[in-house]
Amino acid sequence: MNLSKFAENSSKLQDKYSSSWGGLIETYRPYLPVNNTTPVVTLLEGNTPLISTPSIASYIGRGVKVLVKYDGLNPTGSFKDRGMTLAISKAKEAGEKAVICASTGNTSAAAAAYATRGGMRAFVIIPDGYVALGKLAQALVYGASVIAIKGNFDEALTIVKDLANSYPVTLVNSINPYRLQGQKTAAFEIVDVLGNAPDWLCIPVGNAGNITAYWMGFSEYYQEGKCDRLPKMMGFQAAGAAPLIKKQPIPNPETVATAIRIGNPANWTKALKVQQESGGEFNSVTDEEILEAYRILAAKEGIFCEPASAASVAGLLKVKDQIPNNATVVCVLTGNGLKDPDSAIKNCQNPIHSEVSPDLEEVAKIMGF
Ligand code: F0G
Repeated sequence: MNLSKFAENSSKLQDKYSSSWGGLIETYRPYLPVNNTTPVVTLLEGNTPLISTPSIASYIGRGVKVLVKYDGLNPTGSFKDRGMTLAISKAKEAGEKAVICASTGNTSAAAAAYATRGGMRAFVIIPDGYVALGKLAQALVYGASVIAIKGNFDEALTIVKDLANSYPVTLVNSINPYRLQGQKTAAFEIVDVLGNAPDWLCIPVGNAGNITAYWMGFSEYYQEGKCDRLPKMMGFQAAGAAPLIKKQPIPNPETVATAIRIGNPANWTKALKVQQESGGEFNSVTDEEILEAYRILAAKEGIFCEPASAASVAGLLKVKDQIPNNATVVCVLTGNGLKDPDSAIKNCQNPIHSEVSPDLEEVAKIMGF
């Protein structure tokens, strides 16, 4: 095949792909605050799989069905891409040249990627020493200016709010309303696949933006008649970073789940409203429970998420006696396990057989033959 024929064919292929999934702004345009002149900055995020997890369900029994919304399969490996495609598109529409965020890692990766794609600069402020390696690598490689502060996420958020008020930079944390508008599409996708809302939605909670966004999504679809029920929203925080359960800010939050190491959630009031309106609950899970769920997901289901994401499954297992018989439960897996290889290796109970000679008999013996 000559080169021009090849180019023609591959562009046809591209058109075919684009028509099947054009990213979440194209797919859910009528539900989003965009118009025909909004420049859509997309990496074709969204359309992530809803996977059934029979091993998790087997811990519960009673006909309960458990599925995970694996949002770690977004372009930068977390649900943040859903919010960022819209926040960055709107910033570009407004003619902004730079964006800023505080982050435990995933927001910074997504902000960096989408800002670059939209031709904008990204500044990210992170808590020094508490961002997983993969996320840090992403922000750097996507070309963001990374500023690591000697403080935690809550302090970083205070600084970026002040900076956005004083300088020409747009804040893209979840207090930016476009972020939640984009993130609500995950609820649409769940209903589109199930044909209805689940009975329960289990979700990890840090800054409480995502739980707010999901509720917004389910509620809008309910009003449109796309589902005839609304889920009970079950939010889970890490025990060492559980302000919503303790009902007061935590000055020095600590957890292995660094993504949700947050002591004073920006969307606190909205999250309480979600809990009340949905008849849901907030509960905490210990680091040990999070890591147990993390290992079960990987070793029994073949699904590798990051520790913070496993808080949703850990929480489900913790409160499993409350689930009605035959209920359908969706647990949100917010980020990809590859983001945090250090935690993976440190907390894995599967040993490496090292220092082995390149000898057939020796290797076969280790294999148990
Ligand atoms: N799961 C992961 C993997 C996260 O990165 C976050 C938040 C959450 C859950 C909690 O979501 O804040 O909307 O309640 N990460 C933010 C960040 C704080 O900077 O990447 P939330």
